[in-house]
Amino acid sequence: MVSHAVLAASVTRSLEALVAANPGQATLREYRIIWQAIAARRGGNVLVFGVGRDSPQWIDANAGGQVTFVEHEPAWIAVARDKTPGIDVVPTRYTTRAWAWRLSLLRPHRLYLRNLPSRIHETSWDVILVDGPQGYNRRCPGRMSSIYTASRLAQRSAGRTEVFVHDADREIERACGDRFLGEANLVRHVDRLRQYRV
Ligand SMILES: C[S@@+](CC[C@H](N)C(=O)[O-])C[C@H]1O[C@@H](n2cnc3c(N)ncnc32)[C@H](O)[C@@H]1O
Repeated sequence: MVSHAVLAASVTRSLEALVAANPGQATLREYRIIWQAIAARRGGNVLVFGVGRDSPQWIDANAGGQVTFVEHEPAWIAVARDKTPGIDVVPTRYTTRAWAWRLSLLRPHRLYLRNLPSRIHETSWDVILVDGPQGYNRRCPGRMSSIYTASRLAQRSAGRTEVFVHDADREIERACGDRFLGEANLVRHVDRLRQYRV
């Protein structure tokens, strides 16, 4: 039984092993916060932008619920489906480039990912994690579209939605997070993770 404040020792061990095996990604503190937030709404609907080695954690945390991943890299979609049979991955395409992020803020509605299936737009999301697409250099897509889409999906969800933005040490993630998710909705910033409650 996972309470809001305490994770089972087995979960902590599993997260520690993930951090050790997946250097340069999220920290243990960040993973614990996300895990707890998902487990607190267990059985609900969780949306994750970006697949990776941590994807199975979110499925475990939300046992009995729905976890959907949005991913644009065919190679990573194939890895996710191979390593986690039955995983729900929705392919997408990003047309943005990180270098143009300030320009894209002028017409934010164009950032909405309309190519996603209708079930994504129609679901009430309990937790949304934005950990993709890549945004580590100017030629990457950047996370303008995923953060904007997360904000719209959270706004139209029934009740509150916990929205996490990872890599918030970067300007785009911080600026788009505060602009689209609302600076007033920022709950905390731990390591490189920001949590907004929308
Ligand atoms: C920051 S990565 C997400 C990594 C994931 N949170 C993890 O720790 O396993 C963002 C994007 O890079 C790709 N990707 C996934 N896992 C990766 C990894 N271990 N190394 C490099 N790129 C990865 C995918 O296209 C993903 O949408």
